[in-house]
Amino acid sequence: MYNTAKRKEYLRGILDEENTPSEPLELFKSWYEEADSAIKEDANAMILSTINKENKPNARVLLLRSFDREALYFFSNYQSNKAMDLEHKPYASLLFFWKELERQVRIQGIVKKIAAEESDIYFDSRPRTSQISALISPQSRIIPNRAYLETSFADALDTYKNKKISRPEFWGGYKLLPDYMEFWQGRVHRLHDRITYIRQGGSWIKKRLAP
Ligand SMILES: Cc1cc2nc3c(=O)[nH]c(=O)nc-3n(C[C@H](O)[C@H](O)[C@H](O)COP(=O)(O)O)c2cc1C
Repeated sequence: MYNTAKRKEYLRGILDEENTPSEPLELFKSWYEEADSAIKEDANAMILSTINKENKPNARVLLLRSFDREALYFFSNYQSNKAMDLEHKPYASLLFFWKELERQVRIQGIVKKIAAEESDIYFDSRPRTSQISALISPQSRIIPNRAYLETSFADALDTYKNKKISRPEFWGGYKLLPDYMEFWQGRVHRLHDRITYIRQGGSWIKKRLAP
């Protein structure tokens, strides 16, 4: 059975060609800031989709840690499944859904590792417990049980007591350099606004898409 009872109208905003900047990351900045103040938690949660060696898509939630005029930055384990996917195909998509604002942003681009020194700076800023979790978790690998994690965590707490925890080489940052960005604003009668930016050479071409 299809769920037809749950229908809402989208009335919270509008998006048009004239009132959007020529740089999509500028529009992303203002939408991100609005989301961050409108949403209690996890406005920076996004879905990263990659393609694996068998050409199958793979999606998971990550946290956006930063962005600038060039790229969006996130951190993970460099031996995880997503890392293997990105080695095979260094191209991915990011998806944000900000329900409270009736907005979606879709982004595609090439993905690169950031410089080791940059990863060090971020790692050093993390709480000690998060540093230890990164250190002891063989992310995406099969482990025997929960106790394995908890024992490794407790052992590492002990080993590193009063010692600096340095970033392990298998953990660090990535940046996605967008070549495609689409902004979706929900509108009345399902006549939603979709403004898309396509990178051509050094500049961005802006187009409206049908909803
Ligand atoms: C809210 C939320 C935030 C997350 N943030 C991160 C993150 O920043 N980095 C990360 O590696 N995994 C994060 N995860 C876990 C990933 O979704 C995923 O389970 C993990 O990275 C392993 O993915 P993989 O096996 O595809 O490599 C987060 C999960 C959730 C639900």
